[in-house]
Amino acid sequence: MLQKPRGTRDFLPDEMERRRLIEGRMREAVRRWGYREVCTPDFEHLELFTMKSGEGIIQEMYTFEDKGGRQMTLRPEVTAAVLRMYVNEGKVLPKPIRWCYFADCFRYERPQKGRYRQFWQFGVELIGADTASADAEVIMLADEALQSSGVTFDLHVGHLAPMKHLLSDLSPEDQRMIMACLDKRDQNALSAALEGRGLTHLTEPLAALSECQTVAEVFEIAGDVPERARIEETFALLDSQGIEYRPDFGIARGLDYYTGMVFEGFARNLGAENQILGGGTYRLAHLFGGDDVASCGFAIGFDRVMVSIGDFPLELGTVVGVVCTPEARERALEVARAFRNAGVRTEVDLMGRGMGAQIAHAAKAADFAVVLGKREVDAGTVTLKDLHTGEQQEKSLEEAIAEVARHGDR
Ligand code: HAM
Repeated sequence: MLQKPRGTRDFLPDEMERRRLIEGRMREAVRRWGYREVCTPDFEHLELFTMKSGEGIIQEMYTFEDKGGRQMTLRPEVTAAVLRMYVNEGKVLPKPIRWCYFADCFRYERPQKGRYRQFWQFGVELIGADTASADAEVIMLADEALQSSGVTFDLHVGHLAPMKHLLSDLSPEDQRMIMACLDKRDQNALSAALEGRGLTHLTEPLAALSECQTVAEVFEIAGDVPERARIEETFALLDSQGIEYRPDFGIARGLDYYTGMVFEGFARNLGAENQILGGGTYRLAHLFGGDDVASCGFAIGFDRVMVSIGDFPLELGTVVGVVCTPEARERALEVARAFRNAGVRTEVDLMGRGMGAQIAHAAKAADFAVVLGKREVDAGTVTLKDLHTGEQQEKSLEEAIAEVARHGDR
C-alpha cells in the first residue's frame, strides 16, 4: 500500500469542515479590518527566499531544478512572495495596502505533532505604513483573528532594537548565531555560543531582557535606543485598547528580515510546538527591485491552531435521503432537485438497492427519508419519514420541504 509523504496529512470530510469553519472565522475577522485576499504561486525562484529569509529556513527548503534548468523552491513562507507581488503588481496602489492570505507552505523539518512538512498559514501583510499605529493594528488584528478561532493563547510583543543594541559590538555572524539560539529558546546552545565566543558577560543582560515585565525596565538594561518613542507609543496603543499581552524583548524571530517590532503567540494547551503566531515589521520590497517600503505582518500556524482547538461537534444540517422504486426514479430526481433548491442536503440511492435497504442506509446518514413508489408518483405526493421518530406521512412535495426546513430551524 502506498503511503503519503512523511510530514504530510490527509484530511477527511469532518476535519475539512472544521478547518473551513475556523478559516472562515479568521477570514471574517481580517475582512472587517479591510484586508483583502491575495494569492501567489506555490513555487517561486529560489533566490526570493535565499536573499533575506535566514539560514534556518534555507536549509529546510524543498528546492528543485525545473526542466529549463532554473532553481525553484516550494514556498517555505508567504511574506517574501507577497512582497515580490507588491513590487510586480502593487506599487501604484494607494497605501497602505492591506492584504491577507491563506496558503500552504513547505519546510523539510523533522515531523512531529504540530510540525509538518506541508502546513498552512493564515496571514496578513500591511505595506506602506511606518507608524506605531500600523504596528499596533497588525498586533490587534492577530489577536482578534486568533480569538475568533476560539484558541486560548498568550501574546508576546517585543522589539528587536534593545537586543540588537546589546549585541551591537558583535560581528553580524555572531549576532545571527545568538539570535538563532534565542529564537529557538535553546538555553544550552545559547550558553555554549556565548562561552565559545568569550561573551559570557552577555548571559545576564540577555536573560534579564527576556524577563522584563515593563518597557521602562527594558531601557534600564539595554540602554536608550532611538526606537524608544515608537516602542512606547505602540505599547500605549495596545494598552488603550485593552489588548492582553506580555512585553517580551527576548523575541528574536527565526526569519532574518525583521527590522523592529516583533510578536509571537503561544497556545496554552500545546507542548513543544506551541507557537501559533509570528510576525513583526520588516523591509523586503527594495531587495526585489521595489521601493524601500516599511511593512508589517503576521502568519498564524493554522494547523497548530486546529491541534490546539481539537475536535468539536459539527452542525451538518438536515439531511434527506430520497428512497424510490425503479419506476419512480425520474420523479425521485425531480423531488431531490426541489429539496436541493430549497437548500437541503439531499442524497439519492445510486446502488440499485431495494426499498428496505435504501431506508436502512438512509437511517444511518439522514434525518428524513422521502419515499417515492407508484402510489406517490400517481398522486403527485411524497411520503416523508422522520428517521429519528419513525413517524411517516404522505403529503405534497411543498409541505414535505416546509417540514424538513422547520426541522432545520429547531
Ligand atoms: P514563522 O514564525 O516562520 O513566520 O511562521 C509562522 C507560523 O507558522 C509559526 O508561528 C508556526 O505556527 C507555523 N509553522 C511554522 N513552521 C511550521 C511547521 N513545520 N508545521 C506547522 N506549522 C508551522 C513566518 O513565516 C512569517 N512569514 C510571518 C510574517 C508575516 N511576518 C511578517 N509577515
